[in-house]
Amino acid sequence: MQLSRRNFMASTAAAALLPNISVAQSATVLRAVPGMQHIAPEGFGETDIWGYEGGVPGPLIRVPQGGRITRTFRNDLPQGSSVHWHGIRIDNKMDGVVGLTQDAVEPGDTFSYDFTVPDAGTYWYHPHNRTWEQMARGLYGPLIVEESTPPEVDRDDIFLIDDWRLNRDGKIDESFGQPMDWSHAGRIGNWITVNGRAPTVQTVKQNERMRLRLVNVANARIFDLALDGLQGWIVALDGQPLDKPIAAERLTLAPSQRADLIVDVTAAEGENAALVMLDRGEAFYLAQFTVEGRARDAQMPEPEALPQNPVPALGDLETAQRVDLLMEGGAMGQMRGAVMNGEAKTMGELAENGMFWALNGMAGLPDEPLLTAERGETIRIKIINDTGFPHAMHLHGFHFRKIEEDGTQGPLRDTILVERNKTAEIAFVADNPGDWLFHCHMLEHTAAGMLTWVKVA
Ligand code: C2O
Ligand code: CU
Repeated sequence: MQLSRRNFMASTAAAALLPNISVAQSATVLRAVPGMQHIAPEGFGETDIWGYEGGVPGPLIRVPQGGRITRTFRNDLPQGSSVHWHGIRIDNKMDGVVGLTQDAVEPGDTFSYDFTVPDAGTYWYHPHNRTWEQMARGLYGPLIVEESTPPEVDRDDIFLIDDWRLNRDGKIDESFGQPMDWSHAGRIGNWITVNGRAPTVQTVKQNERMRLRLVNVANARIFDLALDGLQGWIVALDGQPLDKPIAAERLTLAPSQRADLIVDVTAAEGENAALVMLDRGEAFYLAQFTVEGRARDAQMPEPEALPQNPVPALGDLETAQRVDLLMEGGAMGQMRGAVMNGEAKTMGELAENGMFWALNGMAGLPDEPLLTAERGETIRIKIINDTGFPHAMHLHGFHFRKIEEDGTQGPLRDTILVERNKTAEIAFVADNPGDWLFHCHMLEHTAAGMLTWVKVA
């Protein structure tokens, strides 16, 4: 999935010429269907994936900011599914959460998604039913909302980084629902792909400027990344521009998080450059670049901030509604029991039902929301991680800011990694009515109890 600057410019220009972009897109179908694809290392055969339009990743959806997306989702999988548009501040009815905002789209059925996208940035889409299985089989795709004035770059590339658990034949390891995964760190895989393929070697030029849109689409793996032979700046996180680009030497990407980098090739002709994954000291290349020739004589000036999106500023934090969210459970945790479907259960009884985690003493989606907000109200949630594992908490429908102890506000994000035995406070403006899921994006943790919801009147 490489977008040359020319293609990119052409598509932007074409979009500008269309009086109503939604008309041109209205008939498009997005079909979830099993397929075969070569994702495994060399020497292995094809893998039995599930993909949008039969491939991994699904087709790139690219629209201008403020544009409309219409897709008829068709489910040709052997089980119910849906589409969730991760990170988009969306009409609640279009959020795709089975069991909260819609019913599952059963095999052979369709569902029409139709919404506008208020914010420019890097987003993605994936199912929201049995997500732990469906995403592990390859169901996800990229969604880019273009800035009206994009930054000056030579290339604009997306990296959907995935972690697969394959068996010795290169097929999907069918060990879904393993209590060991559900009660520990989740389904950690044994093979990494970028855009559904083994990492590749690409040719670049010295002083070339690239925009790298990194997306962690893995079920549970946290990626620790570094740049080599490249000078980079983070310009956006989870789709939302930073006030000021920050130097990107190292960067952590938890499940579902995104980072937009502007990167200059500083390595000279004949040298190598790479995007490196640091995993317990051993380096693995997510992308390797061979430098051939020069794009320009000197490096371009430092990048400027991307234009801000129309996200409302936080209200008064002193008078904001405050809620605590206690995370408990998992292996090596202290949890004795929790309420499930309105009934108190012991840890043993929970485990029999595939539940290992709880939020405020509730395992699984509770009947009552974590909080009810008036429209436009500012909400503070203190997340207390009393477990032996890190969790990537994702709030649907809103971007929030981390509130540091001294009151400083962090960048806008839709997913926050809360380390084990740590506390983190977030705040957001509840400006979008509806029922919004709030869950751990380590998908086995969601399945095993780590989810709740927020109601905005
Ligand atoms: Cu990426 Cu609840 O979703
Ligand atoms: Cu978790």
